[in-house]
Amino acid sequence: MRGVKIVGTGSALPSRVMTNDDMAKIVDTSDEWISTRTGIRSRCYCDTRAGESHRSLVRDAAARSLDAAGIAPEQVGVCLVATFTADTCTPSAACLLQADLGMPEDTLCLDLNAACAGFVYGLHVAECLLPGATRPYALVVGADTLSRVMDFEDRTTCVLFGDGAGAAVLECREGYPELHAVWGSRGDDSSLVAPGVGCDEPSYLHMDGRAVFRFATEVMPRCTTEVLTAAQVSADEVDRFVYHQANKRIVDFAVKKLGLDPVKCEGNIDHTGNTSAGSVPILLDELVRAGKITSGNRVLMAGFGAGLTWAGVLAEFA
Ligand code: UT7
Repeated sequence: MRGVKIVGTGSALPSRVMTNDDMAKIVDTSDEWISTRTGIRSRCYCDTRAGESHRSLVRDAAARSLDAAGIAPEQVGVCLVATFTADTCTPSAACLLQADLGMPEDTLCLDLNAACAGFVYGLHVAECLLPGATRPYALVVGADTLSRVMDFEDRTTCVLFGDGAGAAVLECREGYPELHAVWGSRGDDSSLVAPGVGCDEPSYLHMDGRAVFRFATEVMPRCTTEVLTAAQVSADEVDRFVYHQANKRIVDFAVKKLGLDPVKCEGNIDHTGNTSAGSVPILLDELVRAGKITSGNRVLMAGFGAGLTWAGVLAEFA
């Protein structure tokens, strides 16, 4: 049977760094409140004057992942971008990426929206699509520019989010393992909402933070256990747990509940904030580049977000 492995990762954070003290100049908040409630110390926003955009972040993260994999754009058969904040509704971010990198016409290009769980969903979707694709490599990007949909007068949301993109290249091959994906969604239209085209102005993101917190602390441990069960491995056999970076307290809760080794669950929310679909692949890439994920490692990734959605996979690095 054919399965997949990750053969390369990449990421891109924009250049405009906003510290908690910077946020305190905009809304009634403090470094103390933000860092103790969330673990966030700074986040990055696109500097449009410097030419940074959703498109440029996607392109840079994707190009770096292909470079790390030693794969040319012409070898990609599936190109997915998980996002809900692309520069345009259509053309898709995936088609713009195809144009930017020069991927062939028979590359299957599409965007998918599963909010903050989007990248993990995307890995599973790519695994499903690859056996029927023209070429055995998939480029999966998670990218969001939340600064575009944030209400900078709402302290309960604007301090939490940042912009960023991450990417992974999957190779499909005979003898490679399955991802053992688990997923779900809950058809919730009020806990976390970012209105789109045609909606009432102003179209900002709204969130019931406490409701999402309760949901997250329920699904993250459950998702982890379900992936381990599906893969028939113990937590000790997993080298790293890469969790969606929404709030350090959510990850700490899951780590404690599951009795995981905290060293294997290191996050990066301190300097990224919540980058939604970018969150898991940015952390993944930072761990790879720091030598903390290496060839042969098994990595459990899990995310949750608006929808309400959640997903988990166990992926092996080639
Ligand atoms: O990617 C998926 C989406 N997002 C999430 O996963 C977020 C999940 N939720 C959370 O992480 C947390 O619920 C938050 C970080 C959003 C909020 O933390 P909390 O401990 O649940 O705070 P709270 O909403 O219960 O608010 C506590 C207090 C309130 O004041 P009162 O009513 O106690 O007087 C808020 O008005 O903190 C106040 N508050 C703030 N104070 C200073 C809310 N935001 C801020 C702020 N600065 N930025």
